[in-house]
Amino acid sequence: MDGILPLLYLLASVTFVLGIKLLGSPKSARLGNLIAAAGMSVAIIGTMFLYKHNGKPLHNLEWIIAALIVGGVAGWIMAMRVKMTSMPQMVSFFNGMGGGCAALISILEYTSATQSAMPVSIGHALAMMAGLIIGGVSLSGSIIAYLKLEDRLSDIRFGGQQFVNNGLLVLTVMVGVLLVTGSLSGLPMLYLLAALAVLFGVLFVLPIGGADMPVVISLLNSFTGVAAACGGFLYDNMVMLIGGILVGSAGTILTVVMCNSMNRSLLNVLIGNFGSSAGGGGSSTGGSYREVTAADAAVMMAYANRVVIVPGYGLAVAQAQHVCHQLEHELETKGVSVLYAIHPVAGRMPGHMNVLLAEADVAYDKLIEMEEINADFPTTDVVLVVGANDVVNPAAKTDPTSPIYGMPILDAELARQVVIMKRSMKAGYAGIDNELFYRPNAAMLFGDAKASLSSLVNEVKSL
Ligand code: TAP
Repeated sequence: MDGILPLLYLLASVTFVLGIKLLGSPKSARLGNLIAAAGMSVAIIGTMFLYKHNGKPLHNLEWIIAALIVGGVAGWIMAMRVKMTSMPQMVSFFNGMGGGCAALISILEYTSATQSAMPVSIGHALAMMAGLIIGGVSLSGSIIAYLKLEDRLSDIRFGGQQFVNNGLLVLTVMVGVLLVTGSLSGLPMLYLLAALAVLFGVLFVLPIGGADMPVVISLLNSFTGVAAACGGFLYDNMVMLIGGILVGSAGTILTVVMCNSMNRSLLNVLIGNFGSSAGGGGSSTGGSYREVTAADAAVMMAYANRVVIVPGYGLAVAQAQHVCHQLEHELETKGVSVLYAIHPVAGRMPGHMNVLLAEADVAYDKLIEMEEINADFPTTDVVLVVGANDVVNPAAKTDPTSPIYGMPILDAELARQVVIMKRSMKAGYAGIDNELFYRPNAAMLFGDAKASLSSLVNEVKSL
């Protein structure tokens, strides 16, 4: 029986890699998730019944099963109830729980090492302290991110904040190093380290706001992965180590991709007070804008050669993906070519628009990434912006004082006509006015995206 558990761990590790690979496309993502979850279940059940410590099987099985039931039921209820638009908050919350678990592992291991008076190797001490610091930061940072995304907490900034944060980080790392080398020891010192890490997580995320939130969430995600890998190292558990490394590296890659999409350097994210939209610029554009009716917009589109739809957060809020697909179908029956322009950070989570449109059975080859579709805008007859705002704001290219300056955007303003669907002239996530709305080739179609799209479908049908 001894050789079976490593084999199960190997099998589980393969499912994790396969799962991540399949998550790369909306078409296979659901399957990838199920495969990785099945692998994780195999690893957990295998550990519960086959793991032996000093020749003895695991005890406290009833506690483990009770915790699995409580956690499983709570997670299942949350996942079933969550709205698509609240998904980032939930990811953040679950991520925080992972970080908290990793920190607890370090605390438990250090406690039992202290009680048994067994010498701890430098490697193990390092893994314990790193797991505690990174897991603690991830726990509190994720909870702050969760509260901010839920609008229960606003950005908090004060003078010298960067200095305080960097000082606290240095202090935390120093206490960790002293605990590793043995210059500091004992449980009170360990709890001090845990408190410093948790406090740093809070202060680190508190000032972050505006358009940089996705970066911090994926960064914290990678932290949790690294903290879990430390736990795997402590327990000499291959599947935990591999799972942690995979989450850590996938999170880091996503962080880098997000940084590029939002024009932030990773260093700036790690040490800077980033994402502050209050910091300056983004001056109000104002001016006069033109309004169109659904009937006018339908005529523009039905007689166009090419229409490009730019979906944004408002499409998700209105749950208008199905009726949007219907409009695409109606236009195509009139001989219009219809494509979707996908900005990497449109919506509120990575891949938000892809998932939403996949749900409505929009063909994957119609979803064109920003880099590719930008060249097509000057030859596009009509761009239909559905509940998007920041991702089509030309200030990102033209206004160096704008908080989104430098963020690559969809060049929708270069099309012959732009119809913008939203409920009002209110700003988007970054809280800034959009110069596009006042351009001569732009027109506003006010209303809830679902209602406006339904009217458009009816108008196009009647032409
Ligand atoms: P936003 O800039 O947030 O604009 C969305 C617009 O949708 C709003 O201006 C709003 O205007 C409109 N809207 C809301 N509900 C609507 C409804 N029911 N019907 C019609 N319109 C509606 O969205 P975006 O262009 O997708 O840009 C995303 C922003 O979020 C970026 O700044 C990005 O950095 C940030 N962000 C992205 C992520 C990820 S990873 N995707 C995560 C966090 C933050 P009205 O109120 O006037 O209707």
